[in-house]
Amino acid sequence: MQLSLVVRGLDLTMSIAKDQGIHEQLEYYRARSSEYDQWWYRKGRYDRGAAENAHWFRDAAEVVSALTRFGPSGRILELACGTGIWSEKLLPYASELTLIDGSREMLNLAERRLHVGNVRYVEADLFDWRPEDKYDTVFFSFWLSHVPPSRFGDFWRLVGDCVAPGGRVFFVDSQHEQTSTAIDHRLPDRSDIQLVRRLNDGREFRIFKLFYDAQALQKELMSLGWNISVSATQRYFIYGHSAI
Ligand SMILES: C[S@@+](CC[C@H](N)C(=O)[O-])C[C@H]1O[C@@H](n2cnc3c(N)ncnc32)[C@H](O)[C@@H]1O
Repeated sequence: MQLSLVVRGLDLTMSIAKDQGIHEQLEYYRARSSEYDQWWYRKGRYDRGAAENAHWFRDAAEVVSALTRFGPSGRILELACGTGIWSEKLLPYASELTLIDGSREMLNLAERRLHVGNVRYVEADLFDWRPEDKYDTVFFSFWLSHVPPSRFGDFWRLVGDCVAPGGRVFFVDSQHEQTSTAIDHRLPDRSDIQLVRRLNDGREFRIFKLFYDAQALQKELMSLGWNISVSATQRYFIYGHSAI
């Protein structure tokens, strides 16, 4: 009896710790929203010099071309949209665009970037949220790497619940590459699943960040029943999509 109480106590402690991690990373993105774009545009602490930056933008252009070939269409859902960097690319293809993010600050920035009518902005925690609709295209960028391994299966079940019959998925994420992050960040080993991220003002947060190998991820997804091919750009990104 005592043993089972201890065991249950331990379980509870572990699940609180697990949730603390996902709450802290949302807090991090809320606090980072106004400086977030510096990462994508290689500004400030993310500026790695002309040659490295050019490589980054070449790899990014490759993913954008893949997205164009994929051809998002119809009712599009974007999970964890952030400031709308990719929403802007999805918008021309969408009959209706739904953007979800846990941060109101991020959604406000996305709204300022897009400021058009056929966009729905939803503030929701993706670890709790359940879809009420189905979508022809489900897209997420730099989100899968923040899903803790213990929630990987649940996340892909959620994606499955969002996709309409005949619907498709496209995602993009990070490769393990030191120059992708800020000059004052150190990427831990590939096997570490959490790392410390610092804001411009020096505040630090612990977040999940998983770096997937394209082939291994494709295999893992296949074992969950997904037919998604995953590719890697030369250095910085991986991207995956359902059949074109
Ligand atoms: C790395 S950013 C990616 C943003 C955008 N997709 C992009 O590519 O620029 C991760 C995003 O996830 C959001 N986020 C973090 N935790 C979340 C949660 N539990 N539920 C929903 N969104 C969350 C953050 O607010 C942030 O906008």
